[in-house]
Amino acid sequence: MLSIADLTDAELFHLVRMARGYAATAAAGSAYEKVLAGRVIGTYFRKTSTRTRTAFSSAALRLGAEVIAYGPGDLQENTGETVEDTGRVLSRMLDGLVARTAGPDREFAAYAAQDRMAVINAMSEGEHPTQALADLTTVLRVRGEVDGAKVLYVGEGNNSAVALALALTRFKGTELYVITPPGYGLPAETQQRAKSYAEASGSTFVCAHDLARAPKSTDFVYTTRWQTTGTSKADPDWRTVFDPFRVDAALMARYPDARFLHDLPAHRGEEVTAEVLDGRVSAAFDQAENKMHSAAAVLAWCLAGAS
Ligand code: CP
Repeated sequence: MLSIADLTDAELFHLVRMARGYAATAAAGSAYEKVLAGRVIGTYFRKTSTRTRTAFSSAALRLGAEVIAYGPGDLQENTGETVEDTGRVLSRMLDGLVARTAGPDREFAAYAAQDRMAVINAMSEGEHPTQALADLTTVLRVRGEVDGAKVLYVGEGNNSAVALALALTRFKGTELYVITPPGYGLPAETQQRAKSYAEASGSTFVCAHDLARAPKSTDFVYTTRWQTTGTSKADPDWRTVFDPFRVDAALMARYPDARFLHDLPAHRGEEVTAEVLDGRVSAAFDQAENKMHSAAAVLAWCLAGAS
């Protein structure tokens, strides 16, 4: 599970439905079926994480697996062992590895260059695929279907936005507007791929740098923190460029029926006002919980072939 682009449409739709199933199980007060009993999952986070690390650890335990957690200073990669060798060795002892590198995407191909252990990208420099699964699970739970969903994404075209663009555009008749500050848009390759997905699914995909280009209606307004984990901006005046892209009550008032999404962590007063994040239309904390249900779907699908 390295990139959303690696999934077929059927696999993507299936994972989102599975995540909704786990959410329904939890909402009914029931336990996840222990389909990973006897399995061992490693979690290796080189960068900070509250949600993703806990989502995968909690989901693995709830599915009956054991978890071994590695922090940024724990593995011999720090003393020069290659990523390839690390993957080869861990694959002899683990059934699955959930890793956050915040480094180049090619590192994940290196971890995955073995045929014994499932490898799950819990965020690389270029993409945050499991965030998109949580996002679409939230859309599914709020709307009852993902097909036809309209999302206005405002802020940096970061790894969460990349995954969202590669995922939402695969569903029929969706609409995704990605409005970013100039110079902070989605990579050209992502735009090209999302555009071709949108053409195939009869969806709309628009990238722009001015909120005047925002659509007249939307189901969700989505933003993300301005300083993505593990990154920094070269321009010392970047905040001036980002300031007009804050999600506040005035922007939400343009969309009276829309729900608010945020992948979290949030900086109230920067990318979103406290009034919006903590307000009635915010689904951000449900979205955070959905990371656990979608993590369960990913683990069960990757390791147990669960359907
Ligand atoms: N949204 C997200 O990935 O949160 P964490 O960085 O806390 O895992």
